[in-house]
Amino acid sequence: MQKHIFVLLVLFTVAACQSPQVSQTPVLESPGKTVKIETGLSESGQPFYKLSFNGKEVVAQSMLGLDIQGQNFKDGFKITGTSDRTVDQTWDPPYGEVDKIREHFNELTINLESAEGRKMNLIFKAFDEGVGFRYEIPAQDGLDSLVVSNELTEFQMTGDHKTWWIPGDWDSNEHIYSTSKISEIDATPYNEGPVPIHTQNIVDVYSVQTPLAMQMEDGTHLVLHEAALWDYPAMQLHVDREQLKYIAQLIPSRVPEVKSTNTLPFKTPWRSVLTTKDAAGIIDSKLTLNLNDPNAIGDVSWIKPTKYVGIWWEMHVGTSTWDMYGSADMSSATNRTPSGKHGATTENTKRYIDFAAEHGFDGVLVEGWNIGWEDWFGKQIDSVFSFTTPYPDYDIDFLSKYAADKGVKIIMHHETSSAVTNYESQMEEAYEFMKKHGIDAVKTGYVGKIIPRGEMHDGQWMINHFRRVAEATARHKIMLNAHEAVRPFGQSRTYPNWFASEAARGNEFNAWSVGNPPEHETIMPFTRNLGGGFDYTPGIFEVRMNTYDPKKPEVVHTTVAKQLALYVTMYSPLQMAADLPENYEKRLDVFQFIKDVPVDWQDTKVLHAAIGDHIGLARKDKNSGNWWIGSITDEEPRSFDLTLDFLDEGKTYEATLYEDGGGAHWKDNPYPVNIRKIEVKKGDMIKLNLAAGGGAAIGVVAK
Ligand code: NOJ
Ligand code: CA
Repeated sequence: MQKHIFVLLVLFTVAACQSPQVSQTPVLESPGKTVKIETGLSESGQPFYKLSFNGKEVVAQSMLGLDIQGQNFKDGFKITGTSDRTVDQTWDPPYGEVDKIREHFNELTINLESAEGRKMNLIFKAFDEGVGFRYEIPAQDGLDSLVVSNELTEFQMTGDHKTWWIPGDWDSNEHIYSTSKISEIDATPYNEGPVPIHTQNIVDVYSVQTPLAMQMEDGTHLVLHEAALWDYPAMQLHVDREQLKYIAQLIPSRVPEVKSTNTLPFKTPWRSVLTTKDAAGIIDSKLTLNLNDPNAIGDVSWIKPTKYVGIWWEMHVGTSTWDMYGSADMSSATNRTPSGKHGATTENTKRYIDFAAEHGFDGVLVEGWNIGWEDWFGKQIDSVFSFTTPYPDYDIDFLSKYAADKGVKIIMHHETSSAVTNYESQMEEAYEFMKKHGIDAVKTGYVGKIIPRGEMHDGQWMINHFRRVAEATARHKIMLNAHEAVRPFGQSRTYPNWFASEAARGNEFNAWSVGNPPEHETIMPFTRNLGGGFDYTPGIFEVRMNTYDPKKPEVVHTTVAKQLALYVTMYSPLQMAADLPENYEKRLDVFQFIKDVPVDWQDTKVLHAAIGDHIGLARKDKNSGNWWIGSITDEEPRSFDLTLDFLDEGKTYEATLYEDGGGAHWKDNPYPVNIRKIEVKKGDMIKLNLAAGGGAAIGVVAK
């Protein structure tokens, strides 16, 4: 047994409300001893754990166990053995916020056996910035498969922490964040408020989704999440507002009592608690990625971080439509007349390809190219889309050649409208069709209620579907960007081709809903982004939506300079320049930043960070070694003194600053961007003044 694990004999007295501890208590410490996990069995033989960080308890005694139909995997357990190991290795992600990731942890496995002879292992990994733990049910006599009806995992908090949360929703992650104490979490207003979400299914208003970020009184930050979510439903957390405790809540299948069906041996996903001394530590952590399994798809040289434009925002702001036939009477094919507003026409796609080629973008996303859009929304038809039949006004053969000649890639769009069985029946054909046309990236979409009916977006059936898609696309060497899919859990380590997702409230909400409040983008990097790249689709220059339609609600809730800064602060290896080409053509000087900013990084430094208030990052381009800075604020104007201590010694750089111009304000005056160039070297200081809802974007290029 190694030094970091020891077995204590504890003589105990415990608070009346807690389950009493018993004798054998394996303890695990992280390599740098910052994180300590204590475990044990209650009097009834139910396992528990506690977690401390820098000597302070951050998760108090919390029970563990699984509710399995017809079996007892909850209590009556005895410890029959323990084993441990240490891993210290560095791996190179094919793309990312950094180019090397150190994976250094101590691991403890506790073997348990119940009175009935049922075996279960608890596996804990202690990293210096947090912990992961999972259940393993090994192969055993008389039990080939099992049905999980509940998971009993708890996270007992030690105070009424400040919490940034979105409501537990079985079908969507596209919510606005609320900030409250744990005792005040209440999603009731979401069920009443005018928040248009593609699909919303909040069953328990006292539940939240992960990644769930909290701040303790002493400034310690905690984030609860999960990793390696395969063949199991996503976990939400029920909030016990009196006890200040979160209890795992698994998304059900179409048979509500059945959360997960598994064959033995099987392992649950990792449950993770990130513990850092400040908000910046959350950005620095690679815990979620590290808890996922290594690359499962072999050669990844074909995976390319991508910057793209697309036939997309024009449908969201309403100047064109996805469907070709508008709102024609669809009862008979002969009644179908073109609306004249179709976005994905050959001509329009050519225009976007030309624009992409002229300005150096890798790809053009084309939505609305295939038949089915007349019936996609709200009708819930089983076989709505064909993924191999273009509309007659979209000449895919011609466009494939045209794009190839211009050195631009078309990006495929597969909106399934959640008719998932329909998609599954066409997947292979659809991917072959893509490859035949030289297309090697797909954006999938799952708007609406899932078919098979009764399954949930984040339930086990869909998790397995997402894996089938990740595997099939990998087989065809296709990069995947999934919208309305389960929120990411670090899967890009295992399936690097699944390189981006939406799974949160993207910029699109600014086009047609009450929008995203100015603080929204200052929360995402500490929550949603922990799981992986976010296809947020920044870069909106025409921020006043009533330009398109006087009935539309006001603006995009950021200044234009902040839209630029998002390319640095909102990580994704896939970034869109989301606005219309004509809006970029009007401001080519400002557009230059979007053209220049890279999408793949060697290193990332946190310059300033406070969840829900502000974040500033400096990232080093993977290829050139130049630095790119993004700094954003919420609705408060803020100033920051940035010391450029990360630049290379002895080099002179030219910094191009794109700042909020005089009088800028997200609501009253979102447009002004001031561009200036200065010479800088290591150690110089730059003063940034961010407007309300504003930001600054800087390229620092070696001379
Ligand atoms: C919702 C997606 O988030 C959006 O990007 C897409 O344009 C629409 N669905 C249509 O598929
Ligand atoms: Ca969406």
